[in-house]
Amino acid sequence: MSKLIITGGQPLHGKVKVSGAKNASLAILCGALLAEDEVVLDNVPDISDVRILLEIMGTMGVKVRWLGEETLSLRSPKNIEDEAPYELVKQLRASNLLLGPMLTRYGKASISLPGGCNIGIRPMDLHFKGLINLGAEMNLERGIIQGKTGRLTGSRVYLDFPSVGATENIIMAACLADGQTVIENAAKEPEIVDLANFLNALGAKVRGAGTDLIKIEGQHLLKGGRYTIIPDRIEAGTFMVAAAATRGKVILESVIPRHLEPLTAKLREANVEVEVSEDTICVNAANIEAKSIDIKTMPYPGFPTDMQSQMMAFLSTVPGTSIIVENIFENRFRVADEIKRMGANIKVEGRMAVIEGVASLQGAKVKASDLRAGAALVIAALMAKGETEIGDVHYIDRGYANLEPKLTSLGALIRRS
Ligand code: UD1
Repeated sequence: MSKLIITGGQPLHGKVKVSGAKNASLAILCGALLAEDEVVLDNVPDISDVRILLEIMGTMGVKVRWLGEETLSLRSPKNIEDEAPYELVKQLRASNLLLGPMLTRYGKASISLPGGCNIGIRPMDLHFKGLINLGAEMNLERGIIQGKTGRLTGSRVYLDFPSVGATENIIMAACLADGQTVIENAAKEPEIVDLANFLNALGAKVRGAGTDLIKIEGQHLLKGGRYTIIPDRIEAGTFMVAAAATRGKVILESVIPRHLEPLTAKLREANVEVEVSEDTICVNAANIEAKSIDIKTMPYPGFPTDMQSQMMAFLSTVPGTSIIVENIFENRFRVADEIKRMGANIKVEGRMAVIEGVASLQGAKVKASDLRAGAALVIAALMAKGETEIGDVHYIDRGYANLEPKLTSLGALIRRS
């Protein structure tokens, strides 16, 4: 098992190019199943979540070819192997996004209950509700989700909570259904807009993505096409917080600043200087006196749960009391115990974490418990005095492309062993 060894105390300085969005890529790769011709995707991040999903799709009969470092070609088969292998599916929660495309294109799907990060209960009732509304027969037996259907029929689906995955699954299923589907209380995340833009580029008719009311007119089949995936707002956000936490100055290139507004606002509230242009963001914390802040995670455009752990690391040395309330995933404070091993003062009560800023953190041996917890530990290690060893790095590799070279180019002392 590899580890990251980081010697802290260096302010990050320089420029870094942000990779393609993990969560948009995962949904879009699944969406490629709806196309009868070749789909070419640019700006696909080379991360293990993408590799695992491609492996799963390969076992189903999808022809996958890398055409360049970040360019992929996918060709879906006429008939599909409908059983996605357990060993692979259990590693990736997003494999649940195969359900909608498999059912609507091939009339059948069988996947084990997906795994992924350990950040809460993560039920699938809303995915099921949507697919059943469209006419699919869904069963869950001994940990295996089985679905079958003839052609799906457009329908109205109200989501009790704006789930990102359920919204994506229902959009994809509805693309090949008979007639119109309306999703009410849909999730509004930028990755949903990206999925809709991709599907529309292949001939789908998805309207309203980015609002809470999405309408889809079903088509017979989608054609092939080429599409460029949006930059990863969470990777960008992680570098922004790392720059703030180390009191450095970092310019992020290839970003969509609008997607980062909830984070930018909070960093500014904490006294961090953030300058925004059309597709760059400059974070300057070189001479600031950082201020404690309160954060509540919410569905987009609220503060993203995927940035909460990294902010906890940053706030751990900001003078005063900061409070974080986690409203999306109940298990996302496990990282607090690890940051505490480095000297932080954090109290967790249910969905609330109270952080009393300490003067500094010290290097220690810690372990990532999920992807963003891992990113938070990297930030904590970059701030800490001395050496930190981060175990279970495979969680971090799920979502950060070329993390060590990128951080090294910003002056960080980081290596893998
Ligand atoms: C996606 C992102 C993840 C991000 C999350 C919230 C991907 C691959 N992952 O995860 O990085 O942290 O959005 O922004 O895009 N829920 C239900 N029933 C369901 C589905 C979800 O109750 O059927 C609940 C979940 O338990 C959770 C909340 O809804 O409390 C949000 O989950 P959801 O938006 O579905 O997250 P994911 O799509 O799994």
